[in-house]
Amino acid sequence: MDRFLIEGGVPLNGEIQTSGAKNAALPALAACLLTPEPVTLHRIPRVKDIATMTSLLRAVGAKVDMDGGTVRVEAKEFVKTEAPYELVKTMRASSLVLGPMAARCGTARVSMPGGCAIGARPINLHILGLEQLGAQIAQTHGYIEASAPDGLRGATVHFDRITVTGTEDLMMAAVLARGETILQNAAREPEVTDLAHLLIRMGARIEGAGSSTIRIEGVESLHGAEHTIIPDRIEAGTFLIGGAITGGNLLVTQCNPEHLGALIAKLKLCGVAVSEEASNAVRVKAGVALRACDMITEEYPGFPTDLQAQYMALMTQADGISMVTETIFENRFMHAPELMRMGASIRIEGRQAIVAGPRELTGAQVMSSDLRASASLVLAALVAKGQTTVDRVYHMDRGYERIEQKLAGAGARVTRV
Ligand code: EPU
Repeated sequence: MDRFLIEGGVPLNGEIQTSGAKNAALPALAACLLTPEPVTLHRIPRVKDIATMTSLLRAVGAKVDMDGGTVRVEAKEFVKTEAPYELVKTMRASSLVLGPMAARCGTARVSMPGGCAIGARPINLHILGLEQLGAQIAQTHGYIEASAPDGLRGATVHFDRITVTGTEDLMMAAVLARGETILQNAAREPEVTDLAHLLIRMGARIEGAGSSTIRIEGVESLHGAEHTIIPDRIEAGTFLIGGAITGGNLLVTQCNPEHLGALIAKLKLCGVAVSEEASNAVRVKAGVALRACDMITEEYPGFPTDLQAQYMALMTQADGISMVTETIFENRFMHAPELMRMGASIRIEGRQAIVAGPRELTGAQVMSSDLRASASLVLAALVAKGQTTVDRVYHMDRGYERIEQKLAGAGARVTRV
């Protein structure tokens, strides 16, 4: 099992390039199942979750060709319409194929995801939505079976709570449904908008993506298209926090500063000098000492839960007490005890973590519990005294492309063993 050895104490300087967004690439790949024609996607990050999704596409019969960051998918016909437990258990986003297969094939069988390190994460809202579009749903043997032999029909779906992949799944189902679908209380994340842009290129009729009401007029069929995935705002945000925590001077390139609004505002409040150097590049520069600032996670455009763990690492180095509140997932503080093993002072009370800083961190052997928790530990290690061993970096490999090389390019002493 791979681990990272990190020698702390070196500021991140220079430039780091952002990759394509994993969480935009996953639904885009699932969307390829909506048409028999080839779809070409550029800027697909080479991370484990993408490999899992391409395995799933191949398993249902799609032809997938990869050339660097470009992936071409042709789903001419299906050999089956099932997402098996083996794949879903390693990646919950596998449930994104439910909507497209139900819409195009009239049948889809997807394993129920089961528990997850960061929370229960049910997919009941995907299922309820599909039912409203006319699918018959059965749950047996740990699987959800959706069937709509005569096709789906448009409907108004009001999400009880905001769900990113739920919105994406339903949007993909609705593009081939008869008539109009209105998705209310939809997620406004940039990844949802990016998916809508791809679907529109494929011939779908969608209005309002990026707002909380999305209108979709179903069409008979979709056609092939070519699309470039948006930059990964969470990866870019991780690097910005990395620049800030190490007291460096780092330019994060190939990103979209508009998607990073909540983080940039927060970093400025913490005393970090942040400047947009171009329409696609942001610089962080350590200035005055870091100040503690409270943070609460929210759906976009609020502060992303996917940057909460990294922000907590930053707060261990800030002067004062900060309250970090997680509102999206019920168990997303698994990094806190590991940060404490490195010397951080953190108290957890329900959905709140109270961080007292600054505390000197010292290198230790720590263990990743999920993707973003591992990013938090790597950031803490970059500023810790001595050597940190981060175990189970396979979590990191699910969503960060060549992270150790990117960090090393900015001066970090990171090796994979
Ligand atoms: N929820 C339900 N029922 C549902 C769906 C969601 O109760 O049917 C709840 C969840 O349990 C959670 C909340 O609603 O408490 C929001 O979950 P959401 O559905 O928005 O999360 P997701 O779509 O499963 C995506 C990202 C996550 C990211 C969240 C929140 C992808 C592939 N995953 O997950 O990314 O944390 O949105 O922004 O887009 C990551 O990249 O590390 C990651 C976990």
